[in-house]
Amino acid sequence: MGVLPVEERRVLTAKLDEMRRKALEDPESFWDEHARALEWYKIWDKVLDDGEKPFYRWFVGGRINASYNALDRHVKTWRKNKVALIWEGEDGSVKKYSYRDLYVEVNRVAALLKNFGVKKGDRVALYLPMIPELPIFMLAAARIGAPFTVIFSGFSSDSLAKRLNDSGAKLLVTADGFWRRGRVVRLKDIADKSLEQALSVESVLVVRHAGVDVAMQEGRDYWYHEALEGIGRNTYVEPERLDSNHPLFILYTSGTTGTPKGIYHSTGGYLVWVYWTLKWAFNPNDEDIWWCTADIGWITGHSYVVFGPLLHGLTTLMYEGAPDYPAPDRWWSIIERHGVTVFYTSPTAIRMFMRYGSHWVEKHDLSSLRILGSVGEPINPEAWEWYFKVVGKGRCPIIDTWWQTETGGFMISPAAGIELVPLKPGSATLPLPGVDADVVDDNGNPAKPGVQGYLVIKRPWPGMLLGVWGDPERYVKTYWGRFDGYYFPGDYAMKDEDGYFWILGRADEVLKVAAHRIGTMELESALVEHPAVSEAAVVGKPDPVKGEVPVAFVVLKEGFSPSVKLEEELSNHVAEVIGPIARPAAIIFVKKLPKTRSGKIMRRVLKALVRGEASLGDLSTIEDPSAVDEVKAALRIA
Ligand code: PRX
Repeated sequence: MGVLPVEERRVLTAKLDEMRRKALEDPESFWDEHARALEWYKIWDKVLDDGEKPFYRWFVGGRINASYNALDRHVKTWRKNKVALIWEGEDGSVKKYSYRDLYVEVNRVAALLKNFGVKKGDRVALYLPMIPELPIFMLAAARIGAPFTVIFSGFSSDSLAKRLNDSGAKLLVTADGFWRRGRVVRLKDIADKSLEQALSVESVLVVRHAGVDVAMQEGRDYWYHEALEGIGRNTYVEPERLDSNHPLFILYTSGTTGTPKGIYHSTGGYLVWVYWTLKWAFNPNDEDIWWCTADIGWITGHSYVVFGPLLHGLTTLMYEGAPDYPAPDRWWSIIERHGVTVFYTSPTAIRMFMRYGSHWVEKHDLSSLRILGSVGEPINPEAWEWYFKVVGKGRCPIIDTWWQTETGGFMISPAAGIELVPLKPGSATLPLPGVDADVVDDNGNPAKPGVQGYLVIKRPWPGMLLGVWGDPERYVKTYWGRFDGYYFPGDYAMKDEDGYFWILGRADEVLKVAAHRIGTMELESALVEHPAVSEAAVVGKPDPVKGEVPVAFVVLKEGFSPSVKLEEELSNHVAEVIGPIARPAAIIFVKKLPKTRSGKIMRRVLKALVRGEASLGDLSTIEDPSAVDEVKAALRIA
């Protein structure tokens, strides 16, 4: 396995080619057959309803439950006593849950949710760190048909409040705090602040985890362990027989404009997609110890820490803390200690560990690993090689998976579970069966091999989003408005002579900072909220570890002058408004921003300047060319 000469591709991919052909030639029968890998209460009347394009609906009329498929199904078999979840805290404590243990807890929590008045269709918000209660609440909400929305525990109170209000969540689940680099992050305090602005939330459940004192508001806040006390271990909550297109969850993600979008996914199509993509890409088996390092607050965690592995009856691992705490070999020690076989992480993490040095990896026996994965941003060949040689010892193929929050699961990825194609460092290789991907030019015509264009998906797939919560127009416009009839993910890509896809980064105003998706507009509106700021423009600057980092150009209001103190204040302000992941790498004060004559900020010019590019592109529409000189001076470019 591993890197094989590309000339052999035609021979090697016979099986994969055949499956991809079948899935595209007759998608209805292909999915009719494949969806039966899960247990349905009722089989669908129609595989795909495309009557209201682009609101495609899969497995229409089918009835299914996510919690049942992830737990009950295994509890009925020998897997009952198999470890479903290994949790490691930052302090080194370890908890293990068998499938039966998880089943018991999820049933209890489902009963608890009902006691709190949560009914089918009500939204439940989960603002929780990486602790077992997070997947337990997700599965419990899914059991009773309450769409959940997980809010990453690194988000600020403002970000949380926005998501609570947009989703109209009735119940919020949070924790007193969690550990990060040996210090407690006081989560409940942040939640309290957001609750001042979140009016839909009726009650708050608080998980005691860090053991810190928190304020509890009478009649609104309840300790989770106390609320659970009266609910016995024999509690059984009948899973709701949900329509295939009943929303399983809402997950907020950044886009080009405005506030984050609530991407919501179906139950049936999403589960089918997550099940098959995991199987095709990673070829799981019952001995696997599966570790996807993503936080469950992101889609990667939803699909490949929780649902994918549990649908397959695997042992999934969760780690609470910082990757390099207390030392840079924390992750490698986890792999060794728990015998991890599948390891799935981001290029940013790989580059960070590369910097710490190979000796941290070599201290540990990583021979349990059989396959490695990468996600979240393009992986540069240098990081790929290091991952392949130092972590995988040249034995483990690297599964570079391209996908996004909206796609539910992998879209373009090597398929070790079908037939492993020769790998090329930096390419996610070929689309998975059922994914009709292509690269097109500005007019939507196929781009020539080797020429950069826009990535498009030319037909619906089962894992696709149902829409943008509360904003159907935005769904149509954002994803289906750029190229007629095609789904546009917002990425640049290139297809080579072998048909391999190379993802070349975002084609819109979205940044990928340490694999996290951040909208430049969100950063800009956070900055202009500050009393000192008149205008702001944010662009991404390449960074050797994080992929890219935000650089903010700021014009101050009359009466304010640039200073290191103000720079710090603005940087803290962004971290407070959005969350620490959004903190700008630099704040550059200028008197004016380059703008077109119609008053639009020329971000592409700022981007070229920040990147030190020789050409600034077409400047004929610029209103005041001296703005460019000023930016250059601020950046100290001659
Ligand atoms: O730009 C692509 C990049 O991440 C975006 C999706 O971000 P998000 O919704 O946060 O989901 C991240 C985890 C799936 C994509 O539009 N991206 C994701 N995976 C890759 C990637 N870019 C290159 N290679 C990848 N493997």
